[in-house]
Amino acid sequence: MARPRERNVVLLGAPGSGKGTQAERIVARYGLPHISTGDMLRAAVAGGTETGREAKRYMDAGELVPDEVVIGCVRERLAEGDTGDGFLLDGFPRTIDQAERLDALLADAGRGLTHVIQLDVPEDELVERLAGRRLCRVCGKGYHVVFDPPAREGVCDVCGGELYQRADDDEATVRNRLAVYRAQTEPLVEYYRGRGILHTASGGGKLPDEVFERVTEILDGAAS
Ligand code: AP5
Repeated sequence: MARPRERNVVLLGAPGSGKGTQAERIVARYGLPHISTGDMLRAAVAGGTETGREAKRYMDAGELVPDEVVIGCVRERLAEGDTGDGFLLDGFPRTIDQAERLDALLADAGRGLTHVIQLDVPEDELVERLAGRRLCRVCGKGYHVVFDPPAREGVCDVCGGELYQRADDDEATVRNRLAVYRAQTEPLVEYYRGRGILHTASGGGKLPDEVFERVTEILDGAAS
């Protein structure tokens, strides 16, 4: 059960649906700690840790990293002191097993999720978005070469860092990531609908700030 005013939020959506883009805005508006399992795993890969070495081959193929590995990362991160007033999970859970384990973890602490926000985007748009995505090597800010370009090509507006393309954003890997999403993650929509905490924000064909308006309505309680 959530404590009063806690926002314990999950962002749910296919690869490229805008989870990271909306997470940046949610963090800026609500001050929630951003817990992205994709970012945590990429940091582990870059750091050459044991978790990173195990995760890399799954990530490169567009497959899910084993539940046990990811749940361990999330359990440790949720135990840190900054999550007491809420948190924003991005890219987790991604399987029913992960969702059930998260429920149990939170219940043990007398807590529960308050909002699951599904970003709903048509599949053809997802491929276009991922093909044009660029990220800053230094601060991690995301861009799109057409929909959200930096002022200077290849250079981050915020810190001047170099922009790069993620290794798993090539078309074949993207197609597999989308298939994995449909098979293993999409069942979570019904899982959370059944718990009465699912909210859907249409994200297709819209500017990120327009999607964010809908997200804020949900988080401020003005949308069902
Ligand atoms: P992860 O890093 O979580 O990747 P993902 O879920 O595939 O999602 P993306 O980061 O690709 O997309 P996004 O929804 O954040 O979109 P974005 O905002 O960037 O996971 C990577 C891998 O790690 C997985 O494949 C798996 O191997 C592993 N992993 C992670 N978590 C795991 C877990 N729980 N269990 C097991 N394995 C796990 O937007 C995309 C582009 O579109 C950007 O260029 C953006 O500028 C643009 N854009 C965004 N919104 C809009 C809009 N409204 N209009 C136009 N363009 C937009």
